[in-house]
Amino acid sequence: MRPGELVLRASLEALPRGARDEWLDSLLGLKGLPADGTDLPRGCVPYLPCPVEVLLRAVDRAEITSEDVFVDVGSGVGRAAALVHLLTGAGAVGVEVQQELVRQSRELAAALEAPRFATVAGDAAELLRFLPTGTVFFLYCPFSGARLERVFEHLEDIARTRTIRVCCVQMPALARPWLEPLWEDEELSIYRSRAFTVDLRSDAVEVRSLLAQHRK
Ligand SMILES: C[S@@+](CC[C@H](N)C(=O)[O-])C[C@H]1O[C@@H](n2cnc3c(N)ncnc32)[C@H](O)[C@@H]1O
Repeated sequence: MRPGELVLRASLEALPRGARDEWLDSLLGLKGLPADGTDLPRGCVPYLPCPVEVLLRAVDRAEITSEDVFVDVGSGVGRAAALVHLLTGAGAVGVEVQQELVRQSRELAAALEAPRFATVAGDAAELLRFLPTGTVFFLYCPFSGARLERVFEHLEDIARTRTIRVCCVQMPALARPWLEPLWEDEELSIYRSRAFTVDLRSDAVEVRSLLAQHRK
């Protein structure tokens, strides 16, 4: 950890738990809850910031480091992405559908002079496949149903290329064969993708039959 990261962590931990969210808001210059816009699609969850306590547990249990790229799926004003970036040095990408929240998130990144913290505007279910650099994907229940299903299809595709972690807050347990549980408490579940294996024996049979045909 770099000195700034250590100081931020120590400052948060020195405060009573109940005071940490307000302190972070004041540090980041965030004032009150922004109103949700008409561009929030039907069935999607409005903005509500994830509690600092849960974010600290996610950082620890998912072992997020400066080598990671943290993607907040439904990132609001960028508060969670900013905190994880400042605590760990990880690159941070927010994906947010509400334009006004995107604007505020970009303003926050500029105020923090954080070039490794970017915000992408649009529906996460459509955009995630264009974000293959992510290594830790964070979802504070942004939506459910078909949209969530699409997000997990994209995540599975990304997990075929490398190991990823998925942090879910206040969401039902995930039962997907390509994900193994790493951590679970009453608010937070963390998963790691399993290695995808290629069936070399069946590939070898395929190659042998191709060679046999070629020789005929
Ligand atoms: C519960 S809030 C979580 C905010 C943020 N992750 C945090 O922890 O501070 C859910 C956020 O997801 C956003 N959202 C909802 N549906 C979305 C979608 N389809 N694509 C991108 N963002 C979406 C909402 O606008 C809202 O900001």
